[in-house]
Amino acid sequence: MGAGLTMQTRVSGRELLRDVVVMEGIVKVYPGGTVALRGVDFSLRYGEIHCLLGENGAGKTTLMKILAGSLRPDLGRVVVKGEEVRFRSPADAAKLGIGMVHQHFSLIPSFTVAENIVLGYPEEGVRQKLKLDIEVLAEEIRRFSEDVGLPVNPNALTRELPAGMKQRVEILRLLYRRADVLILDEPTSILTPLEVGELFKALRKLKAQGKTIVLVTHKPREALAIADRITVLRRGRVAARIEDPGEIDESGLAELIVGERVATSVSKVGNLARGVRRPALTVKDLYVLDDRGVEAVKGLDLELYEGEILGVAGVVGNGQRELVEAILGLRRPVKGRITLLGVEVTGKPVGEVISLGLAYIPEERLLRGVSTELSVAENLVVKQYGKEPFCRRYLINVKLIKEFARGAVREYNIVAPDINSPVKFLSGGNIQRLIIARELSLNPRVVIAEQPTAGLDVKATNFVHEKLIELRNRGVAVLLISADLDEILKLSDRIAVISGGRIVKVYDCVEAIDLRELSEYMLGIRR
Ligand SMILES: Nc1ncnc2c1ncn2[C@@H]1O[C@H](COP(=O)(O)OP(=O)(O)OP(=O)(O)O)[C@@H](O)[C@H]1O
Ligand SMILES: [Mg+2]
Repeated sequence: MGAGLTMQTRVSGRELLRDVVVMEGIVKVYPGGTVALRGVDFSLRYGEIHCLLGENGAGKTTLMKILAGSLRPDLGRVVVKGEEVRFRSPADAAKLGIGMVHQHFSLIPSFTVAENIVLGYPEEGVRQKLKLDIEVLAEEIRRFSEDVGLPVNPNALTRELPAGMKQRVEILRLLYRRADVLILDEPTSILTPLEVGELFKALRKLKAQGKTIVLVTHKPREALAIADRITVLRRGRVAARIEDPGEIDESGLAELIVGERVATSVSKVGNLARGVRRPALTVKDLYVLDDRGVEAVKGLDLELYEGEILGVAGVVGNGQRELVEAILGLRRPVKGRITLLGVEVTGKPVGEVISLGLAYIPEERLLRGVSTELSVAENLVVKQYGKEPFCRRYLINVKLIKEFARGAVREYNIVAPDINSPVKFLSGGNIQRLIIARELSLNPRVVIAEQPTAGLDVKATNFVHEKLIELRNRGVAVLLISADLDEILKLSDRIAVISGGRIVKVYDCVEAIDLRELSEYMLGIRR
């Protein structure tokens, strides 16, 4: 670490005095081949609030993880406080005052606020204090939190705190380690509007104390409310740098986020005529709570027809997950009606819903899609195991299962050492092929695909796309839920925009879509 500046640097002396962080030409390729960053320049001035915007998958978290030392760039340089750095861990970054609050909470729920704040603090003295005197520690944290203007109750149990307070604890954790560059990755996505107001007040206080803050967000409105400067990322590149946010409005910013695109739809050959639309899935006035008991779906209406791909466009976290779980029977709606192929399935158990002819291609493949310890063959038949022809009179036909598995592996090009090897040895793209092979072998009439290509390489992505189109051409109804607008535009016959737990707009004709308007619906500017 700290190799010092060499002559080849593009950073000028003036920038060194002004900028606490300069990142140049950052390239990051994930194992598996996703190019997350394609040469990004990014800088932070001392004492500014800098908003980093961009749609899902633009590369925001990747860039910030590199700055915070939890990922290493493949190319490019990072200069912090005038020194070129090569962080090997978050601890290296912390030594230079850089700290990050991640998209998901990292606090220990059963600990008190004070314990969470000092947890892992390197100084031996603190560890002693923690052991010897909890009261002293609590008092110190109380005073500390008041001094920085973010008061907390040090004795409160972390799991009992509302989201806004937990976030405050995470920020205090960083400040306690004397961080002066704070990175907050989408802190507002889990907050109520009131809590967002509180957070912004706190951030302004920190700025007044000379801290530098990066706020990652999807929402133009938030960026315009608090940013000194804005950087917009799009598909791994800087799409815009805004030095004076006073000169741009929400919809201008939305356009920069989404960018210019052409709605290039794939060949619609074989698509059923639009005149004869038979509904396959109908959702009426649906209300569903999320894990925290907050209404995530609120009054949602949706109609999916046979032989179409209906793309549900939206920023992650706007009720998509809860909608899917409600349809699948994994989450009980508080209100509303779901009808699948003419049968009301509201609140019905998942097995019953699936047996009507519903297939599901999930986003969290490892959690929901497969059993990683089971073999390729077992995973392929797991849903039909006890049924004919694989099982007859309680006898499992191993030979037939193997034949079926070999056929599926061939047809879907699943690269696996062997049909008997556990699925945990497969790459993400091959696991997705396996899931698709299994789901489609059930001859579904309705398919829900949830971020079906997230994290897949180009080849695997194309494969998934071809399969979805093939299904649609066979008359299957496909509900495609994706945060990837390109994917939605490429595959959908119709597009529904989800925002704030409701479908706020439906486009019946994708070819004539106004992308600026679409992005405004997605980002909550229009409703
Ligand atoms: N651990 C990983 N392995 C492989 N690919 C990844 C990994 N993390 C992210 N990616 C991919 O890298 C790209 C950039 O992801 P990143 O998480 O940086 O985006 P983001 O802008 O933070 O998106 P979001 O708004 O959804 O948080 C995406 O295509 C994503 O699928
Ligand atoms: Mg992110």
